Amino acid sequence: MQAKMQFRSARTASCVRATRGRAQAKVLCRAFNSMESPFAEELKKNAAYIAQKGKGILASDESNATTGKRLQSVGVDNTEDNRRDWRELLYTAPGLGQYVSGAIMFEETLYQKARDGRQFVDILLAQGIYPGIKVDTGLQVLPGGKGETTTQGLDNLADRCKAYRKQGAKFAKWRAVIKIGEEGCPSTTAILENAHGLARYAQICQENGLVPIVEPEVTLGPGDYSIDETAFWSERVYSHVMRLLNEYGVILEGILLKPNMCLPGLDAPVASPEEVARVTVRTMMRSIPPAVPGIHFLSGGMSEEEATLNLQALNDEAPNAPWALTFSYGRALQATTLKTWAGKESNWAAAQDILVKLAKANSEAAAGKFKGPHPVPGGGRILQALRTGGSGK
Ligand code: 13P
Repeated sequence: MQAKMQFRSARTASCVRATRGRAQAKVLCRAFNSMESPFAEELKKNAAYIAQKGKGILASDESNATTGKRLQSVGVDNTEDNRRDWRELLYTAPGLGQYVSGAIMFEETLYQKARDGRQFVDILLAQGIYPGIKVDTGLQVLPGGKGETTTQGLDNLADRCKAYRKQGAKFAKWRAVIKIGEEGCPSTTAILENAHGLARYAQICQENGLVPIVEPEVTLGPGDYSIDETAFWSERVYSHVMRLLNEYGVILEGILLKPNMCLPGLDAPVASPEEVARVTVRTMMRSIPPAVPGIHFLSGGMSEEEATLNLQALNDEAPNAPWALTFSYGRALQATTLKTWAGKESNWAAAQDILVKLAKANSEAAAGKFKGPHPVPGGGRILQALRTGGSGK
C-alpha cells in the first residue's frame, strides 16, 4: 500500500515536473522565439536573397519634396513625369541586377510605369532586384528643444503593407534618426521612442509579409566629436533596438539592418577606412545578433569613393562576419548619376553607365574584392540637411 502511494506520489511529482517543463518550454518559446507568422519562411528567404554576398540595395525612396530638390540642383523641374523619368533611368540601367538585389521606392514610384507601359516593379523583378517601399511618413521633432526626432507612420501601417505587398513590394524601410554631438543628445527619450517605433513597425511588416529594413541612423552631423563617441552611442542605440525587436517577437532572420557606419563628426578630421572599419565592426559585433542576415549601411553623406573604400575595409576587417556587410546607398549611387543625366535624353546612357559602375564597385567591396580605381574618385561629402515633418528623408 505504502509502496503504491509512494509510486503514485512519485508519478504525480513527475507529472508536475513534466507539466512545469512544458509550461516553461512554452514560456521560453514565447520569450525568446519570434512570433508565429504565416509568412515566416518567406520572410527569411527574401531577407537572405537581398543580403546575398556581393549585392546591396539601391535606396531610391526619397520623398517627392527631396527628389524635387535633387532634380532642381541639375535644372530639372519637380514634376511627376520628371520624377518618373529619373527612376526609370535608374531601374532600367542594363546589368544593374548583377550588383543590386533590392531597390527601395517611394509610394508614388511603386505604382509608376515606364514609358513602354511596364510597371517599375516588373522591370526590377526582371533584373532580379526585389522592390521595396519606404513606409514611414517622416520625422517629427520631439519636445526638449534639441531638435531630436521621432519617426511617424504607424497609423494604417498594416493596411498599407497589405496594399504594397499586393503591388509587388517584398520589403519595407523605416528610418529613425538619432542625433549626437550636442550636449544632452541623444536623450533616453529619443533612444527609447525610436527603438519602440522601429520594433512596432518591424512587427507590423512581418505580420503582413514584408521584410522590414530596420534603420536606426545615428546621423552624421556638425561637431568635432570623435569616432569613439559615435561608436558609444551607436552601440547603445542598436542594443536598445535589438532588445525591443526581441521583446516584440520580431523574426530576426527575416529583417535587414540599415545602420550608419561609425564616423567622427563633420568638424573632426576624416577617419581612415581602416579606423572606420575597426570601430564599426566592433560596434556591430557587440550589438547585432548573428541571426540577422544582412547589415546594409547607408552612405549618410560620405563621398562616393569614401563609401566604397569604407565598405571594402569593413569586409577586410571581418571577412567571416556572421552577417553580410553591404550597402543600401542613396546618395553614393545617385549623386554623379544625376549630374551626368541632368534631365537630358542624350545623357541617358552615360548616366546609366556610371550608375552601374558605382553599383559594381560597391558590389565588389561588399564581397571584399574592390581593388580600384574608383569610377568617381575623390569628391567631397554629399550632404543634405536633416528634414523634419512631412514625409520623406
Ligand atoms: P543615403 O545613402 O543617401 O544616406 O540614403 C540612404 C537612405 O535610404 C537613408 O534613409
